[in-house]
Amino acid sequence: MAPPPQESGPSNLLRPLLLLSYSAFYIPHTIFTLLTTLNFRPLTNFSDFKDHWFARFWTWFGSRAAENAAPKVTPLIQNNARGVLLDIGPGSGQWLFLFARALNPSITKIYGVEPNKGLHAELRANAVKAGLGDVYEIVGCGAEELGSKGGVEKGSVDTIVTVQCLCSIPGPQRVIRDLYPLLKPGGKWIVYEHVRTKFQEEFVGTWQRGLSFLFPFSNSWMW
Ligand SMILES: C[S@@+](CC[C@H](N)C(=O)[O-])C[C@H]1O[C@@H](n2cnc3c(N)ncnc32)[C@H](O)[C@@H]1O
Repeated sequence: MAPPPQESGPSNLLRPLLLLSYSAFYIPHTIFTLLTTLNFRPLTNFSDFKDHWFARFWTWFGSRAAENAAPKVTPLIQNNARGVLLDIGPGSGQWLFLFARALNPSITKIYGVEPNKGLHAELRANAVKAGLGDVYEIVGCGAEELGSKGGVEKGSVDTIVTVQCLCSIPGPQRVIRDLYPLLKPGGKWIVYEHVRTKFQEEFVGTWQRGLSFLFPFSNSWMW
């Protein structure tokens, strides 16, 4: 199947700035919510605060991001996932409707590996909405902790799905190395991720490096 046409043009370079502005808006919003709910602890711990901030931002932005990526992600996932599935960094579960049994009848179990607890309620709701309530289990740890905390055995997984999440995971190269052995022989890894531009010597490469400096959480740009 031919890939969908690539978006191009200078205006695309401005999109990350729009994303950063949206996410910045959620900083005061998160502080206000934490103060008014008397939840002061995340205000003294940046990592905790980041989780609250991201959960609020992604609950709003996740469906918009999915709309944008759908022409590429839908054909990748639909009818392609089977058996025991590891859904890495599912966020609020924007892609779960693609795992519905009508489209993927051979799915038997899905582990949604999502460390941000602030996203779990919406993730569960989306699993139920997709008719996957009985097979979707949320694993509340990072992908890098799956071996030690998640209890997933080596060679037991048929499909791994990573959609727009390796950029959020610390040490993505190591996580990829650790996840591979969990796949059964002949298992499949479905990937849709941001990557470093191949135009490193051109303006777009410099622009991407600048954005990575401004927003260091998106570490895949530095691969
Ligand atoms: C940009 S969001 C994408 C969410 C979802 N895949 C989507 O496309 O709507 C990245 C997700 O990766 C999750 N994440 C961050 N660190 C992670 C880790 N160590 N292991 C697994 N997921 C992680 C975040 O909590 C977040 O939900």
